[in-house]
Amino acid sequence: LLGKFGDEVNMPVYVVGGFVRDLLLGIENLDIDIVVEGNAMEFAEYAKKFLPAKLVKHEKFMTASLFLKGGLRIDIATARMEYYESPARLPDVEMSTIKKDLYRRDFTINAMAIKLNPGDFGLLVDFFGGYRDLKEGIIRVLHTLSFVDDPTRILRAIRFEQRFDFHIEETTERLLRQAVEEGYLEKTTGARIRQEIEKILEEKNPLKSIRRMAEFDVIKHLFPKTYYTPVMDRKMENLFRNIPWVEENFGEVNKFYAVLHVFLEFYDEESWEGVKKRYSLKKNLINEVKHVEKSAQALLEMLKEGVPTSFIYPLVKGVSNETICHFLAYLEGEEEEKFKAHLLKIRDTKLEKIDGNYLIEKGIKSGKIIGEVLEKILMKKLDGDTRDEEEILEEILA
Ligand code: CTP
Repeated sequence: LLGKFGDEVNMPVYVVGGFVRDLLLGIENLDIDIVVEGNAMEFAEYAKKFLPAKLVKHEKFMTASLFLKGGLRIDIATARMEYYESPARLPDVEMSTIKKDLYRRDFTINAMAIKLNPGDFGLLVDFFGGYRDLKEGIIRVLHTLSFVDDPTRILRAIRFEQRFDFHIEETTERLLRQAVEEGYLEKTTGARIRQEIEKILEEKNPLKSIRRMAEFDVIKHLFPKTYYTPVMDRKMENLFRNIPWVEENFGEVNKFYAVLHVFLEFYDEESWEGVKKRYSLKKNLINEVKHVEKSAQALLEMLKEGVPTSFIYPLVKGVSNETICHFLAYLEGEEEEKFKAHLLKIRDTKLEKIDGNYLIEKGIKSGKIIGEVLEKILMKKLDGDTRDEEEILEEILA
C-alpha cells in the first residue's frame, strides 16, 4: 500500500533498517522505518488520507510518524546522505540517494532496504553484503569511521552480537577497540550512553553483554573507577540470576540501577559526583550502595550462622528492590536460599490487630515510642511468636 502511495506521489519508497533485518530473520518487528526519495512530510500527509492512523510530524528533523492500531508504528524519513558531515567521507556522485542513506547506517545487517513501489515490490536493496552477514552471523561496520561518527554504536554492536548470537567481525572489532581507546565514549553525552546501556539490559542475556563490555574496556571508559575484576563478575552473575526472583516477589527492578549498584562499589565522593552528573543518577543511589557495601559481610556471616529473621530485618527494612538485588549479588547456594526465605517472611509478616491508633488509645503519645513498640511486636512475629499480638504487647509494655 505504501508503495502504491509512492507511485501516486512519484517517489521511490523503501522499508529499511531493523525491520528488513528482522523480516529476513523471521522475527516480528512492529517498528517500520520508511525512507522515501522525496519529501517525507508530503508522503506522510498523502498516506494519512488513506490510512486510519495518527500522524505526528517532526518538522525539525523532516520526518513523520504514523501510528496505527495494534502498536504498529511507521516512521517516514527523506533519504539523506549524511547525518555527520565528515571530510574523510568520499563524495561519490554516482551513488544513488538510497545508497547514500544506507551508507550512513551502523552495520551491514541494518543497512538493507526493500523497495515497496509496485513495479519493484519486494526488491532487496543490499549494497554492502548485509544479507551475507546476516546469514553468517556477522556484525560489520560499513566504513572505518562508523564508531567515530556515532560512538553509541560501540554499545549497539555488543547488543546486536548478543541478541542474535552473532560475532563482531575482526576489522570491526579493531575499529571498535580503537574508538574506545581514543576516548570517543567520553565524548558522547551521558544521556545517550545511559539509553544504550538500558537497551542492553532489556535484552535476554545482558550478562553476556556486560562481559563483552568489560573485554573491550568499555566499562572503564564509562565508569572510570570501576574495575571489572573476577570478583565483580561473580557478583554480576549472582545479580542477574536473582533479578527475576526479586521481580516476581517484590515488583519491578530498575536493571540500570541494579547493575550500577555493583559498578559503584568503592566509589568515593568525588568519583560519585562525576558519574551522578553524567548519567543523571538519583541522589540516593550512592547511599544505597554504601549501605550494602557496609553490611554485606555481616549479612553473610549471619546467614552462615543461621540467625533469626529479626536480625536480618534492620538491613532490608524499607530498601529499594535494587538494594535487595545488590545484597543477593553477594550470595550463592545455601546462604542465598536462606536470605530469600527471610525476605519472603519479612514481606508476608504484618501486624493485624495493633497499629498506631491502637497504641494511642492505650495512652501512648510519643510517635517515637509507638514506632518502636510496633517494630518490637513485628520482630517477635518475624521470629515465629504465634501468640496474640495483644499478648505480645503486654509483655513488651511490662
Ligand atoms: N542506526 C544507525 N546508527 C545508530 C542508530 C540507528 O545507523 N546509532 C540505523 C540502523 O540502520 C538501524 C536504524 O537506524 O537499523 C533504526 O534504529 P533503531 O530503531 O535504534 O534500531 P533497530 O535496528 O530497529 O533495532 P531494535 O530492534 O533494537 O529497535
